[in-house]
Amino acid sequence: MAHQAPTKLDINTSYTMNSGYKIPALGYGVYQTPAAECEEVVLHAFKTGYRHVDSARMYRNEQPCADAIRASGLRREDVFFTSKVPPKSMSYEAAKKAIESSFAQTGLDYIDLYLIHAPYGGKEGRCGAWRALAEAQRAGKIRSIGVSNYGVHHLDELEEYIRNSGVGGTLDVGQWEIHPWLPRNDIVEWARRRNVVVEAYCPIVRGERADEPVLQALSKKHRKTWAQVLIRWSLQKGYVPLPKSVTPTRIEQNADVFDFELDEDDMKSLDMPNSYEPCAWDPTTSHE
Ligand SMILES: NC(=O)c1ccc[n+]([C@@H]2O[C@H](COP(=O)([O-])OP(=O)(O)OC[C@H]3O[C@@H](n4cnc5c(N)ncnc54)[C@H](OP(=O)(O)O)[C@@H]3O)[C@@H](O)[C@H]2O)c1
Repeated sequence: MAHQAPTKLDINTSYTMNSGYKIPALGYGVYQTPAAECEEVVLHAFKTGYRHVDSARMYRNEQPCADAIRASGLRREDVFFTSKVPPKSMSYEAAKKAIESSFAQTGLDYIDLYLIHAPYGGKEGRCGAWRALAEAQRAGKIRSIGVSNYGVHHLDELEEYIRNSGVGGTLDVGQWEIHPWLPRNDIVEWARRRNVVVEAYCPIVRGERADEPVLQALSKKHRKTWAQVLIRWSLQKGYVPLPKSVTPTRIEQNADVFDFELDEDDMKSLDMPNSYEPCAWDPTTSHE
């Protein structure tokens, strides 16, 4: 299966997507990061070693992320930037406008990854938004494309659409809330069979599980924090975790996860295949 974690993970580990481009295995999320402080914290993330920023039109901070990319002094090709089609823009025309607005606001020449944020808008809306992404990918403006919060029924629908419509587009990435209390094994299996990279949002469950005995035990055993244990779990599963923090020490802590390893028993202790406890919204179950 694709995207099992490599034996040796480090901060520069990346995966090759169906598009042929690479995606860094550790991302940095900016949901709820106020635009006014976004450039500064993204710059701190770059200084710490992150090379992958997960934004969205809905987060209203694409521009400061792009400003940080320019101010970082890093080469554009060494930084990976993601945005997303907002749920309100789920049609061909509206998604096309959303993509144009991302370029206008960021001033970037290309965007590494653009996702459909959530499977709303009905079949026509979803397929229309995909067509807009596929067109932008073909034009070379967006390098890789994918979806977020799609359930297996949405994924099947998309796969059939790509197969039968001729619009093209490579399904490169899927982004979902994934952590031990929401493992989403059915979706992960669907993605892995097709080499679709699995991004894990809310990888530290927004701090809501800090006191769980299993995390306390692993934290003590490895002398790492509960947050580091969760990020490491996600990386060892072969996912691309997207921890968010606006706190410099936490930004550093969340990337300091490459000097320890969870062993098989540790991983098993975090295995809760039947748990289904989202901490965020859950559009995967939508039947709109
Ligand atoms: N596609 C989607 O629908 C979707 C939905 C949700 C999220 N996402 C993406 O995934 C990213 C992460 O998800 P999230 O932000 O919802 O949740 P998260 O990363 O699991 O948790 C973020 C929260 O944890 C705190 N935190 C961060 N590091 C910590 C540490 N080491 N110790 C203790 N607390 C810590 C942060 O506080 P401070 O910031 O105050 O430090 C913040 O309140 C988002 O930023 C976004 O890019 C996507």
